[in-house]
Amino acid sequence: MSIVGIEELEFGAVDVEKGKRFAADFGLAPLQDDGDASTAAVYETLDGAKLSVRSIDDPALPEAFEEGDTLRRMTWGAADAAALDTLRERLSDQPSFIDHGDAFECRDPNGMTVRVRVSTLRDVELDVTPINQWGDMRRVDQPSPVYENAKPASIGHAVFFVDDLEATERFYREKLGFSVSDRYIDRAVFLRMQKRGGHHNLFLLKLPTRGRGLNHVAFTVRDIHEVIGGGLAMTRKKWTTFIGPGRHPVSSAYFWYVNSPLGGAFEYYTNEDYLTEAWQPREMRHSLESFTEWAIEGGIDAETRRQKKPEDKE
Ligand SMILES: [Fe+2]
Repeated sequence: MSIVGIEELEFGAVDVEKGKRFAADFGLAPLQDDGDASTAAVYETLDGAKLSVRSIDDPALPEAFEEGDTLRRMTWGAADAAALDTLRERLSDQPSFIDHGDAFECRDPNGMTVRVRVSTLRDVELDVTPINQWGDMRRVDQPSPVYENAKPASIGHAVFFVDDLEATERFYREKLGFSVSDRYIDRAVFLRMQKRGGHHNLFLLKLPTRGRGLNHVAFTVRDIHEVIGGGLAMTRKKWTTFIGPGRHPVSSAYFWYVNSPLGGAFEYYTNEDYLTEAWQPREMRHSLESFTEWAIEGGIDAETRRQKKPEDKE
């Protein structure tokens, strides 16, 4: 079983112009845009993963799994044509299955339309400045970078609120071959598409207080400095931060989540754990400490670049 990447995210937005501005400001490269602010456009990450912004009532989009702005279809990449055929066979009994020949799609138990095609993602080589740590001086005669904005390298994961955690987990494990990385008992599961890879490509979360929907989608950037540079750039462009910067002990990633007019949030992240067959999934009780070591609610002031003291806030 061999899903190797997230190929495409297709969003339906009430305000297409705002969604497009957000995608471009986030650092995604415009790929296809006819210049008309109100019509659909496609953007890409450095590795060629696509993000499309369409009108919420565009007939090209499948049924939504929640009201309003949200992700409408998620495309995963199969390693090769043989893997695609194996997956096609295995998923052909799923609801709303459609065979497009070079791709197929169906609906997962949470209502998200899942499409699979042979991966077209490119290898990306980036200049990554090393970090100096005690006894391990890797950056010599070279300052570490400051980024004016972020340029996401790839789409790393998606996080969904789910109605039926067990059924949705089973679908991704048994049908698409995902592995469990970690779990919050009776609440959530972190899944990765390959045994050897980043900590999670999907996080499924069941909350008593809300039904299925999009929580966020996450984009990998090269280092912590790009997380900060990207978040500050979005703040300067007047987009609001949900939470960030911060750090998740559960995956070790540094993050910054920006509220998105396409639904949920868009996350910049870096330095997540890399797991192998040897990794033993942890079964944890959800806790503030395991989820967030530290985080800044609402972001950092991009002008003063300092957190104001409580008494300075109006
Ligand atoms: Fe995330």
